[in-house]
Amino acid sequence: MKVKNICCIGAGYVGGPTMAVIAKHCPDIQVNVVDINKERIERWNDNDFTNLPIYEPGLEEIIKKCRGKNLHFSTEMPQKIKDADLIFISVNTPTKTKGVGAGQAIDLKYVEESSRQIAKHANKFTIVVEKSTLPVKTAQTIKEILNASTNNKQDQKKEVSFSVLSNPEFLAEGSAISDLENPDRILIGGDDDKSIKALVDIYAHWVSKNKVLTTDLWSSELSKLIANAFLAQRISSINTISALCEATGAHIKDVALAVGMDKRIGKYFLNSGPGFGGSCFKKDISNLVYISNHYNLFEVANYWQKVLDINTWQQRRFINLIINKMFGTISSKKIAILGFSFKANTNDTRESPAIYICKKLIEEGAILNIYDPKVNFQQMSKDLENNDSEMNNDIKWRYSEEVYDTFINADAAIFLTEWDEFQNLNWQKIKKAMRQPAFIFDTRSIVNIKEVKESNLKIWQVGYGY
Ligand code: UDX
Ligand code: ADP
Repeated sequence: MKVKNICCIGAGYVGGPTMAVIAKHCPDIQVNVVDINKERIERWNDNDFTNLPIYEPGLEEIIKKCRGKNLHFSTEMPQKIKDADLIFISVNTPTKTKGVGAGQAIDLKYVEESSRQIAKHANKFTIVVEKSTLPVKTAQTIKEILNASTNNKQDQKKEVSFSVLSNPEFLAEGSAISDLENPDRILIGGDDDKSIKALVDIYAHWVSKNKVLTTDLWSSELSKLIANAFLAQRISSINTISALCEATGAHIKDVALAVGMDKRIGKYFLNSGPGFGGSCFKKDISNLVYISNHYNLFEVANYWQKVLDINTWQQRRFINLIINKMFGTISSKKIAILGFSFKANTNDTRESPAIYICKKLIEEGAILNIYDPKVNFQQMSKDLENNDSEMNNDIKWRYSEEVYDTFINADAAIFLTEWDEFQNLNWQKIKKAMRQPAFIFDTRSIVNIKEVKESNLKIWQVGYGY
């Protein structure tokens, strides 16, 4: 079977970039990305490429090249489902906010809704692929919904049938395009060899076959969850050690380097910081805790819960430390916030440590000036739950358009995201702009500590013992 037409349900951070890269490498395949969010689709179709809904280095170039040729964005779900030989489900899978498993289990309502749409509109044999990170056994739910519909349709359309595959996406935001172009592995879970081969053939356009791993459905689903849990665990581990370094006079960067040079450990994911953010880690580990408890594996659940606990502990630790260093109070003090996205090179703020930290600082009475190269005012307003900050007499935070303006009259500056732009700042200029004595808090170890010290500013850096 040769796939000629792909539909992807969900035009988000995973669906958008993934389909763009498939379209780029498979000019013989028509790729249709559909979404219920009309505004998001309009932005994908905008001729002003700075208005694309997602910022990813390298994405704009691919959209310019492929959009309108073999890559299309629309809200016409029924037709695009009908046309497709293969459908990716790439919708959001948030943590449940109420009911059984609230705060831990994954809410599958969008996946279920997508499956029902496929069941309703597909009119031939169709391969359905889970792209979103999902709890183990979700494929079973999708299968049941699809099969129920084929049973109903049996009289009219005997040829309608489905094969369900799991093909989790391992891209990281900020490096999505290069991750997709050059993946460590492609994981495909399923039980139908013909369908697996059809999907392998798509990736074969640009990924070498020895990077393709095929497994059963459940192993594939679980592997994605565990890969994320292991990555997050490394971050919590190094963050605990950052506190120990500060207490003992050691330096976290040296420790991470020395430890990471052991090839059994490896050098990646050993940067200590304000804790992990992003749409995946917290959600996936919460889900792992939920599943483990479900199977009465309480020790397993407690072990992974600690990875989450350390993450919030690190953020609380930073807030207390900032207040202590600023003579015990930040009430009515101006604080510059540098970086709001959950990591560099993305405009995504989901679960960003900046949200929690900014809210706590505001609660303590500080007035914030927030700058991020890619996050806009509307997104910050939404995240800080204060839509009319500029009109409010009691201003709690301001949006800063320019990096140096952010420091004007500030008593402190807190670096929360590791944007390149922050690595080469003019510290003499900053020193003049700030109210003295001024404090610099570098939660990402990115500023040039020597230059900051030469400007006579007080600096604290994560994991840097003095
Ligand atoms: C993650 C996984 O890396 C990816 O494989 C999966 O598909 C989705 O979840 P993402 O959340 O986009 O990707 O970014 P990632 O680079 O993993 O960073 C997650 C968080 O951890 C960020 O807040 C980042 O700043 C933080 N982090 C990462 C650290 O604090 N230290 C590190 O050493 C690495
Ligand atoms: P991710 O990071 O997993 O890509 P996003 O939230 O960025 O998550 O994107 C998921 C997209 O899926 C959103 O644009 C949302 O509107 C879309 N979506 C959710 N449910 C449906 C549905 N039933 N049909 C079509 N699109 C959907």
